[in-house]
Amino acid sequence: MGWAMMLMLLLCLSAGAMVVQGEDPYLFFTWNVTYGTISPLGVPQQGILINGQFPGPNINSTTNNNVVVNVFNYLDEPFLLTWNGIQHRKNSWQDGTLGTNCPIPPGQNFTFHFQVKDQIGSYFYYPTTAMHRAAGGFGGLRVNSRLLIPVPYPDPEDDYTVLIGDWYSKSHSVLQTFVDSGRALGRPDGVLINGQTGKGMGSDKPLFTMKPGKTYKYRICNVGLKNSLNFRIQDHSMKLVEMEGSHTVQNMYDTLDVHVGQCYSVLVTADKEPKDYTMIASTRFTKEVISATGIISYVGSTGKASSPLPLAPEGWAWSLNQFRTFRWNLTASAARPNPQGSYHYGQINITRTIKLVNSAHRDGGKLRYAINGVSHVEPETPLKLAEYYQVPQKVFKYNVISDDPPATVENKASLEPNVVNITFRTFVEIILENHEKSPQSWHLDGYSFFAVAIEPGRWTPEKRSNYNLLDAVSRHTIQVFPKSWAAIMLTFDNAGMWNLRSELTERRYLGQQLYISVQSPEHSLRDEYNIPDNALLCGIVKDMPKPPPYSI
Ligand SMILES: *[C@@H]1O[C@H](CO)[C@@H](O)[C@H](O)[C@H]1NC(C)=O
Ligand SMILES: *[C@@H]1O[C@H](CO)[C@@H](O)[C@H](O)[C@H]1NC(C)=O
Ligand SMILES: *[C@@H]1O[C@H](CO)[C@@H](O)[C@H](O)[C@H]1NC(C)=O
Ligand SMILES: *[C@@H]1O[C@H](CO)[C@@H](O)[C@H](O)[C@H]1NC(C)=O
Ligand SMILES: *[C@@H]1O[C@H](CO)[C@@H](O)[C@H](O)[C@H]1NC(C)=O
Ligand SMILES: *[C@@H]1O[C@H](CO)[C@@H](O)[C@H](O)[C@H]1NC(C)=O
Repeated sequence: MGWAMMLMLLLCLSAGAMVVQGEDPYLFFTWNVTYGTISPLGVPQQGILINGQFPGPNINSTTNNNVVVNVFNYLDEPFLLTWNGIQHRKNSWQDGTLGTNCPIPPGQNFTFHFQVKDQIGSYFYYPTTAMHRAAGGFGGLRVNSRLLIPVPYPDPEDDYTVLIGDWYSKSHSVLQTFVDSGRALGRPDGVLINGQTGKGMGSDKPLFTMKPGKTYKYRICNVGLKNSLNFRIQDHSMKLVEMEGSHTVQNMYDTLDVHVGQCYSVLVTADKEPKDYTMIASTRFTKEVISATGIISYVGSTGKASSPLPLAPEGWAWSLNQFRTFRWNLTASAARPNPQGSYHYGQINITRTIKLVNSAHRDGGKLRYAINGVSHVEPETPLKLAEYYQVPQKVFKYNVISDDPPATVENKASLEPNVVNITFRTFVEIILENHEKSPQSWHLDGYSFFAVAIEPGRWTPEKRSNYNLLDAVSRHTIQVFPKSWAAIMLTFDNAGMWNLRSELTERRYLGQQLYISVQSPEHSLRDEYNIPDNALLCGIVKDMPKPPPYSI
């Protein structure tokens, strides 16, 4: 064997699990995470910047690309990012939650290395540590379709990312002190579109431009902390083409409700008088409507955007009806992680039903949020590491919550790690039941699920007859309206430790989340990658010898 070849082999071996992915292109990024002053609402405040940017840089990738992001933490606190909606097949090591990764200590770096395998669509990343998301650190992440795979609409003239979200003018540390001391976040100070709120009065610089007659893609994600937002564009309707990784039936919408954590791709054609138009993102389900505006300018625009601005719908029944119009386009070809399971999900037998009930608790002035009576706390040792090092019992207990919680779980909450163990490759139904008066938004890492129903009231097995068992959209977040429930179904075929969380930052931070452990009985590389060589270690595994690696 020649020297060069030997070196190659060594390099391959040290790259570990990445060997099999060698043929797919790589995208490399180096990100410096720093504090910096930003003034999105006109008043200077501390923000979290990535390479000096707020919001952070967009990642523009294509299906099966390997994405390598070396994150340098220049904050004074541990920091971690998650890639909301990226499935990390066999690779929860890259998920960037506190249950899978040690946070990056101040002054250190960690290189995420993941493949956007068999996925397309619009996503975003954000910090999972503390209340950091309130200060920024988020940005868009798109996965374009490979050239070989047909996309069910013509190539748009351009492709725009629109990150909308509520915003608070206090720093993340002040907000953290608030919620730690039992105060709720309360109403936001504003709403932002790509880091700006818009002054209105026609004085704003355009956020986007469109050539007359051309069609543009807008990728709209709600990156905010707690408020559902309505998004609309003056005088233009939107053709919905993609939702969280699935091509949808292409209905036209004048306005879209985007709940926290959700992303939609729409097509907008510049077929109106060539002037400026206003896009609006405004809070839903709040007493006072708070909004942001941004200008879209036609090339050759002959006038400022006019008033009045279109209004958002009212009430959540409207939003529920809109949810029911969302359908998966079953005939569109697309990258799909699990085509066999996906097409006929309505015919797979359910092996387990898990009902999850969210609740809020006040205990000695402290505010906590729980699922089935357990308010999750992060152990110092990430759950995944405890499992890999075969010392889970020193860190957490499996299945502390019950699949069918008694009504009393809402009376009190215990504070402990909340880990549910689900058998590899089983088809499971999860009911998310909301007895509270506020809307919820849930997200599951590592998977797409079929969002088969949202209905008012309480779930009973008879409600299954109302499920959409044909063309529910395969996605990764779902909202649950007040005093309502939602049902999702999926096959747990992605081994790893996966976070199921409230996308509402204060609820997640105060315990409304859990982890799902999915272990392959074989501990085989076919099912799950080994711990990466650069994994940061912390807690009890810090000085433990590495267990023997998984084999083929
Ligand atoms: C990140 O920080 C390092 C060290 O301060 C600097 O050398 C590098 O140029 C920075 N990179 C970017 C993209 O800002
Ligand atoms: C994103 O990537 C695609 C595919 O490589 C490319 O065609 C497109 O121009 C890129 N867009 C931007 C904004 O960089
Ligand atoms: C930190 O960055 C260096 C390159 O500057 C890289 O070699 C190293 O692997 C990174 N550390 C981790 C833990 O990823
Ligand atoms: C679904 O996708 C197919 C195939 O690309 C396309 O021809 C069709 O128009 C789409 N259907 C709808 C209802 O959007
Ligand atoms: C599903 O369950 C039904 C009724 O118990 C049974 O007849 C059928 O064989 C099962 N189907 C599969 C694919 O296991
Ligand atoms: C997971 O649950 C199954 C069935 O309840 C059980 O047999 C198995 O031992 C559990 N695994 C762990 C790691 O707790």
